[in-house]
Amino acid sequence: MHDLVLPFSSELTAHQDPSILPLEVENLRYENKGVRIIDTVTLRVGPAGCTAIMGYNGAGKSVLLRLLHGLITPTSGVVRWSGNLSAGEITRKQSMVFQAPVLLRRSVEANVRFALAKRGFKGRVLRARLDAILVEANLLSLRHRPAAVLSGGERQRVALARALAIEPELVFLDEPTASLDPHATAAIERILHRAIKAGCKLIMVTQSVGQAQRMARDVVFLHSGRITEHTGIDEFLRAPHSDAARAFIEGRLFE
Ligand SMILES: Nc1ncnc2c1ncn2[C@@H]1O[C@H](COP(=O)(O)OP(=O)(O)OP(=O)(O)O)[C@@H](O)[C@H]1O
Ligand SMILES: [Mg+2]
Repeated sequence: MHDLVLPFSSELTAHQDPSILPLEVENLRYENKGVRIIDTVTLRVGPAGCTAIMGYNGAGKSVLLRLLHGLITPTSGVVRWSGNLSAGEITRKQSMVFQAPVLLRRSVEANVRFALAKRGFKGRVLRARLDAILVEANLLSLRHRPAAVLSGGERQRVALARALAIEPELVFLDEPTASLDPHATAAIERILHRAIKAGCKLIMVTQSVGQAQRMARDVVFLHSGRITEHTGIDEFLRAPHSDAARAFIEGRLFE
């Protein structure tokens, strides 16, 4: 385990203020071709820590993340960020790791460098941040390897490094450890824990109750496009409010 300083905690954090959190979502709806996918979602997400979004396949978790991150436009409703910042500034303070991340057909290092350059980092600052995040994601020995040949766990570490390199205030993660083995999962969780510790907010979709328990402070349970509950992790596990969430936690099928 490396014990180097995260890029988050460097002197480069000054641009972080003011905060875009808490995030407030009101009556969010998303329909596609007449089908309602997100149905009247109202939600408040506070700063720091990890908020888990859980729910069955097709519940609308990935669509909700895309709506919050601004990749798709809601049919109606409001996504409200704090801080009175411009749309561009709000975008610059967040990043996303997709369910199936697409990497550039270049080296590991070039993938991360590209993300930094796209956000306007240059020269010494870019290089310092690049080196720090490669250390943090345990990618130093892989930095010159073509992304195309990486294993699943390595790919996810690169996707995560790319998302964290820009020093976001908030990262959306869509099942970042799906199909990874316990070792690779632990490596990802370690990086995420350190990001949280450095003050980064995570909103993470996960199918894993164990992962939610290890990582999350609160859980949003989404069922058929609606939030059936949003509670602290302990309460969610001990006394889920909905039948759907109870069945989910117990690993039962729910029709
Ligand atoms: N662009 C789209 N056009 C039409 N339907 C869509 C579109 N995107 C998503 N959907 C539908 O919306 C529903 C929710 O999809 P979403 O990918 O958000 O589910 P999910 O909760 O992330 O599921 P999983 O756990 O399998 O990843 C699904 O029925 C899906 O088919
Ligand atoms: Mg999904």
